[in-house]
This record gives sequence, structure tokens and C-alpha cells, in this order.
Amino acid sequence: MGFYSQELVEEIRSRSDIVDVVSGYIKLQRKGSSYVCVCPFHNDHNPSMNVNRPRQMYYCFSCGAGGDVFKFVMDYENLSFPEAVKVLADRAGIALPEREDSREERESRDLKERILEVNKLAAQFYYYMLRQPDGRQAYEYLTGRGLSQETIRSFGLGCSGKRGNELYQYLKSKGYSDSLLKESGLMNADEKRGMYDRFWNRVMFPIMDTRSRVIGFGGRVMGDAKPKYLNSPETRAFDKSRNLYGLHLARASRKPNMILCEGYMDVIALHQAGFNQAVASLGTAFTQQQSVILKRYTNEVLLTYDSDDAGVRAAARAIPILKDAGLRARVINMEPYKDPDEFIRALGAEEFQKRIDSAESSFFFELRILERNYDLKDPESKTAFFREVSGKLLEFEAGIERNNYIEATAARYHLSAEQLRKLVSQTGERLGGMPRAAAPKPPPGRKKPDDAEPAAQRLLLGWMSADEKHFRSISRYVEPEDFTDPLCRKVVELLREQTESGMFQPASLYQYFTEEEEQKKLSAALGAQIPVPDGRAEEEKALQELILRVKQQSIAWQTENMEPGDMDTLMKIVRKRREIEKLHISLD
Ligand code: CTP
Ligand code: MN
Repeated sequence: MGFYSQELVEEIRSRSDIVDVVSGYIKLQRKGSSYVCVCPFHNDHNPSMNVNRPRQMYYCFSCGAGGDVFKFVMDYENLSFPEAVKVLADRAGIALPEREDSREERESRDLKERILEVNKLAAQFYYYMLRQPDGRQAYEYLTGRGLSQETIRSFGLGCSGKRGNELYQYLKSKGYSDSLLKESGLMNADEKRGMYDRFWNRVMFPIMDTRSRVIGFGGRVMGDAKPKYLNSPETRAFDKSRNLYGLHLARASRKPNMILCEGYMDVIALHQAGFNQAVASLGTAFTQQQSVILKRYTNEVLLTYDSDDAGVRAAARAIPILKDAGLRARVINMEPYKDPDEFIRALGAEEFQKRIDSAESSFFFELRILERNYDLKDPESKTAFFREVSGKLLEFEAGIERNNYIEATAARYHLSAEQLRKLVSQTGERLGGMPRAAAPKPPPGRKKPDDAEPAAQRLLLGWMSADEKHFRSISRYVEPEDFTDPLCRKVVELLREQTESGMFQPASLYQYFTEEEEQKKLSAALGAQIPVPDGRAEEEKALQELILRVKQQSIAWQTENMEPGDMDTLMKIVRKRREIEKLHISLD
């Protein structure tokens, strides 16, 4: 911070209404005095994020993300504070004072910005090198792979020098310090040679973020040397898990889907063939953060991973990640070719479009992989296979969709849909029911077992109402629905509203409960004796056990009170049980 005066920042804030700004990125729904939306900072299907106009704040009850309008733009666009100030100033039509480019100021500027500046110069340098006599081989390599002038230009492709210090010399001549050049990931250093270029004699692929800033590079050898690709390391400007190659172009493609592939060359070949919705991860496995980013632009992702074993495995790993982000996934069959680049070179864009149209739903792709673990000729193995398939069918949320898949699956394996539906329902009941062993043991010495339930809930409520900080931390893991006791549930809902409106005051809750009996219960909950364990880790452990107990009780209750055959409730129960298995409480 510190480049802009506080008054200026406040002026920009006052002209950047948080509801207006957020709704420029995500669809908001009105709810009472505030607005809600699906949180863009974690995988979510529910509108857990609250955007509050009077307070000019946002807060996600599920993941805890929250802050003011600057924080939102920083997190959403992956920007530094001064960058977010610039975005909002532009949006509000406020001119920012020119910043003087004195040496001192340059030194003090945010490291990320300085790396971006160096990267930009490096990209320009590589681009220029491609047109020099020394770049001839690289140029011919690229055109030899079928890339047009226009494609080379739009992806900013270039090449690194043959000696291995050209870029270093160039950037030194521009006055950049060794330490910055090292931070940029563009240079290596060792005792014998001093500083030298990380990339030499390679075709260079600049990697851009969604705002078309160069955040890193990939470099390919022109022959068979190893490693085939070398990438920039992660730096302050380059986070491989939160960026995708080609996204700066693909985000504007206006296509009904995104195409996810493995390689830089695949993305480029696809764009050149008109499939400008193609992106790739950055030499690393596809991540959950990348799936959340893709969800901002599309609802469907088509996978075109290599058709070898490694590619199939990578696709199988990417599918659940995409699903978790609420994306539909289909898999493109590229046989007999290895990757989309080779496919298009051999058969052309029209054939590829046909493969897109006939892409297989990720569900059937997964079934084919699953099949390999079973012997469908053996009756026992076959039954086990269908049990596993039933478990997967339960993952479909909407009743209609699940039904369609049940029917399609039955047809594929020559079963009757009725048979399969029955098996799915049995599997669901088995998964949804509480296995005895996992059920919480009632604490010893308790008189009425029935009492254990509200007691645990009241204790948890006591913990949550201890102070606002605890409430916020624990709310990330616990929802009002987890409380089966109506009073506890109501109290949690009210505390949530209080937190949203910035007035956390458990004591004021008495006004909502006029019956004496209720008031007594409220006092019991708010005054519950919270064990004060020594140390954060101990507290987290105790809390973890308690939350687990409350959640398990809630699931047991729902299972007991569910209408037989109510698949949607069953589904919710199954999902909750899965969540519980992964639950890990942290009070950060
Ligand atoms: N990759 C990498 N390091 C390697 C090999 C691969 O980072 N040593 C990454 C690169 O991002 C590359 C992607 O994995 O784009 C796919 O690799 P691969 O399938 O081997 O290469 P292709 O994309 O087919 O490359 P090409 O067509 O240029 O041979
Ligand atoms: Mn390839």
C-alpha cells in the first residue's frame, strides 16, 4: 500500500458500492436487507455468501471469506491492493495521479508488479528473438508444426537465445537488479557461472493471466532433448494452481463450454482451428482452484486429455474435481490420435467438432474405467460392480437426472431399469444409515440416552456464542440444519443474522423467546460450561469431536425420519456423511 492517499482510497470506496461491484462478477439474489450469492472462493452450490450494502462488506458463512470492496476485487481477480485500487478507480471514472517512476519508488513497488514488468520485457525479448537470424530454427519449428503467423502473434510465441545469457544481458542493460531477476524465475545462479538464463535454445510460450499479463513461461526444446518442456518456477506473480494456459482468450470465446487439455501446443492448435475455448493446466495436475475459476465462465467442460494411460488417469482425477465445482464434464475420444494437436493436424477441425458433439458423459467414462477392476462374467464380481455403480448413481443430485442415468446405465448393461433403481435405493439406504460402529457412544453415566442429543447441541451452541470470533470459525463447519433441537437451530440462525449485520450480541436473543421454558433452555445453551482446554490444538480437537457428534446425531435423526424411498433426502444424507469423513476443524 502507500502509493495512494487515504482520501483517494476512500473516495474510490465511496463510489464503488459493494453490491454493484460484486454483481458485476457474480449473480446476486436479494434476501431481506442484504444480498446472497454462491461464493466464488470455494466449491459451493448454495448461496452461502452474503453481501451487505449498509456495511459495505461481504462474508461467506461456509468458507469464511470476507472483507470490503477492495478485498473482493483483490481476491476475485487475484490482484494486489494497488491493482485493485486501479480497477475500481477506472470503473468509477476516477483518475489516478501519475506515479513518478523514481528509482526509489521502483525499488519499493510491490514485488509482484516488478516481476510482471520483467516478465513482460522478457516476453517481448523472446518474441523479437524469433525474428532474428538466431531465431530462424525456432521460427521454422513453429511453422513446421502448422502454426500460422497470426497464431504465433496472438499467443506471443518466441524463442530464447542460443548462448544462454542473452536475456540476462538485456535485462541488466535495463537496470534490473540481480535479486529481482532471481525472484522472477527467469534466471538461475551458481558459483561457477554466476547468473544465467533459465531458458536457452527453446521455443517460448508466455503464460498469461486473465488480464493478459505475462506471469510465467513454458519453453520447449526443438528436438528430442530432455526435459521436453521447462516451465518457470512459481513466483510471487506465478501461481500454477490458480491459472490456466489460454484462459485470457478462452474466457471471451462465448462458447457453450470450455475445452480442457494437457499441453500448450494442444491449446494453440485448438484455438487456431477455431476452438478458442481451449485451456490447459500449467504442467501440473488440474486443481480444485482451477475448477472454481472455470465455473465462472462455463457450466460444461470437455476433457481432451491424451489418449494414453497417463492421460486417462489424469482425466479420471480431473472429473471429480470438476463435478465438485458444479461443472458438467464430458470426455472427447481422440482415437487413434494421441492428443488434440495431432488429431486436428491429421483430420481437421470438422472431424474434431464431430468428436465434441459425440463426447461421452464423464459418468460413462468413469464406468468404463471402473469396469476394468471387475470381471463381469463372474456373477459375484458383477454384483459388486453394480453396487459400486449404484453408489455413483446416488451422486446425481436432481431426481430427473439420476433417473435418466439409471435408465441409460440399465440399457447399457442389459438390466431392467426397475432392478437397477432398486439396487440404487438399497445402496443409498446402506450408505445413509448409521453403521453401529461409527455411532457415537453416549457419555457414561447419563441417565436418559435421549437427553444426550440436545446436551451436545447446547454445548456446541455455548461454544459458538462465546464470542464473535468463535462463531465465525465454527460457522464454517456447522449449519443451522445440523441442529435437530428447534431452539438451538433458531438460536444459530439468529446469531448468524446478528453477525451479518455486525451486531453480535447473544444476550439480546431473549427477546425472541418469550416462554419461560424457552428462556431457561436459552440460558442453558448460552451459559453452557465450555471446557477450557489448554492450547489451540486441544481446543480444536475437543471441538472436532463435539461437532462430529452433533452432525452424526443430525444424520441419524434425518435417516430415521425420512420417508422411505425419498431419494433426494437420501442423497443429502449420503453427501453429509461424506463431508463428515473429511471434516477437519481449524480455529484460524
Ligand atoms: N510438461 C511439462 N514438462 C515436461 C513434459 C510436459 O511441464 N517435461 C507439460 C507441458 O505443459 C506440456 C504438457 O505437460 O504442454 C503436455 O505434455 P506432453 O503431452 O508430453 O506434450 P505435448 O503437449 O504433446 O507437446 P508436444 O506436442 O510439443 O510434443
Ligand atoms: Mn502433442
